Amino acid sequence: MNKKPNLAIVGATGLVGSTFLKVLEERDFPFENLYMMASAKSAGKTVTFKGKDYVVEELNEHSFDKPIDIALFSAGGSTSEKYAPIAAAHGVTVVDNSSAWRMDPEVPLVVPEVNPEDIAWNKGIIANPNCSTIQAMVPLKPLHDAYKIKRVVYSTYQAVSGAGLKGINDLQEGLKGNDVCKAFAHPIAGNCIPHIDVFLENGYTKEEMKMVNETKKILHDDSMRITATTVRVPVMSSHSESINLEFEKPFELEDVKKLLAEFPGIVVQDDVQNAVYPLARDCAGKNEVFVGRIRRDESVENGLNLWVVADNIRKGAATNAVQIAELLLK
Ligand code: A2P
Repeated sequence: MNKKPNLAIVGATGLVGSTFLKVLEERDFPFENLYMMASAKSAGKTVTFKGKDYVVEELNEHSFDKPIDIALFSAGGSTSEKYAPIAAAHGVTVVDNSSAWRMDPEVPLVVPEVNPEDIAWNKGIIANPNCSTIQAMVPLKPLHDAYKIKRVVYSTYQAVSGAGLKGINDLQEGLKGNDVCKAFAHPIAGNCIPHIDVFLENGYTKEEMKMVNETKKILHDDSMRITATTVRVPVMSSHSESINLEFEKPFELEDVKKLLAEFPGIVVQDDVQNAVYPLARDCAGKNEVFVGRIRRDESVENGLNLWVVADNIRKGAATNAVQIAELLLK
């Protein structure tokens, strides 16, 4: 792309949409024209970007009649299902944060540090993976390349911000003693709820199966055996994950630490003598993936345990999408 692109933010009034704007501003993303889109409810409101006010437009069938090069979508699955193909048909490249297109074989699912090459075969839509999947992929990639992962056990501890403003409100009210359940099936304050997204026939939640299926697609390995338990915890920002890995090849712990420390986008925080390991509160507002508690799983051959934390709205959503857009410019 030689000229500066025309950009559209679909879902500009939402939690992820407003973080798209923060990240675009911080990274000084080049653009010619910028369009803010949301539902009819927000039409006419203004959103500020780099000190300038932009009027929010209602998203409709004609939103992409004007020349737009890149659209960052985070307005829910049904909005993406309907409008991403309309945008793509108008020559827009859509980076979609919803789950609508992720498992479509015609749509690349991309974490820029891991599989940037997949962007090349996009047909107008590129999917941003699930927040819990993105932060896991970054440390898994160098280890899979070096030792070939046979099996993964994911256990997640996920922040309420993953459920949007409603999720944050449920926790804030709960901390004041009001048991509000607008985002979750049960009160979240003082609780751990093993239920994210809907339950499927196999007894897993959709969130758990997203982690299983998206991991295989991003790492291009259908033979990997993967299981997941995803849990909502009373934390405002940042998802934490315990990741248990079993490799085909043997490894030295020091080599694992070096591979992780040298991989782009990872910060290793692992000094247990001084109680140093990644913490959700410290990772909030950061763009990197933080890895610690790196140790052997002594119960199996070639087993490893990791503790992986990242800001779910940044690396888990907005930062990853903006990184994809940056690759599109190259
Ligand atoms: P609006 O604020 O007008 O409802 P969040 O993930 O924080 O709930 O935000 C969702 C975002 O998606 C908001 O910007 C919201 O706009 C937008 N959105 C929701 N439904 C639609 C729709 N049908 N068309 C366009 N934007 C939508």
